[in-house]
Amino acid sequence: ASAKTISDALLHWYDAYARDLPWRNPPRAPRPSDPAWPYRVWLSEVMLQQTTVAAVKPYFAKFVANWPTVEALAAAEEAEVMAAWAGLGYYSRARNLLKCARAVAARGGFPESKEALRGLPGLGPYTAAAVAAIAFGQRAVVVDANVERVVARLFAITEPLPAARKAIRERAEEITPEQRAGDFAQAMMDLGAQICTARDPRCLLCPLAGDCAARAKGDPARLPVKAPR
Ligand code: ADE
Repeated sequence: ASAKTISDALLHWYDAYARDLPWRNPPRAPRPSDPAWPYRVWLSEVMLQQTTVAAVKPYFAKFVANWPTVEALAAAEEAEVMAAWAGLGYYSRARNLLKCARAVAARGGFPESKEALRGLPGLGPYTAAAVAAIAFGQRAVVVDANVERVVARLFAITEPLPAARKAIRERAEEITPEQRAGDFAQAMMDLGAQICTARDPRCLLCPLAGDCAARAKGDPARLPVKAPR
């Protein structure tokens, strides 16, 4: 199938089955004009980096209630932010969160390009791409562990991780659409979390089953292969 067939099928599935998560308001394109929307996208992506969706939800709610905008967070004391973060782990994320909020407030808002976002404290390539795509509708390729698994299966990439990352990224790049790249990224994440799961993929429910090379070969759960360490 063509890249467009794949992204169309996935976006169509997302329109019906996207998880209703608190940082997706509204959960579908078009992007809201709410000025605090990039702030919420950024906050959720920083929290979700090393933490599950279920664990993040109450912390996300607390942060948005305490500090509804990036300017409000920028004005907070470090001790308050650290106290609100307590329990989420990886505390350098909280320190960078505040540094980043102050940098963004000082420059009058979030930059929109992936490259400019990369220059902010705590924003690595993944977070910069996620914010550019989800908050600003830029065509950025967003690859986390769930997306890696989906892509490895879709194209039957049998090379082991981590060496396979280059091929996976190239394939993800090919299928990322010009329009709705943020929805596409989140659809890939939802598919990986709910359908194309690590051990027991639910191919009968998958909108990409007909396009999936690993399924055609008969054993999608075998992929991605991990190099012994
Ligand atoms: N994991 C990281 N970012 C996410 C998002 N925007 N939605 C769901 N899971 C995610």
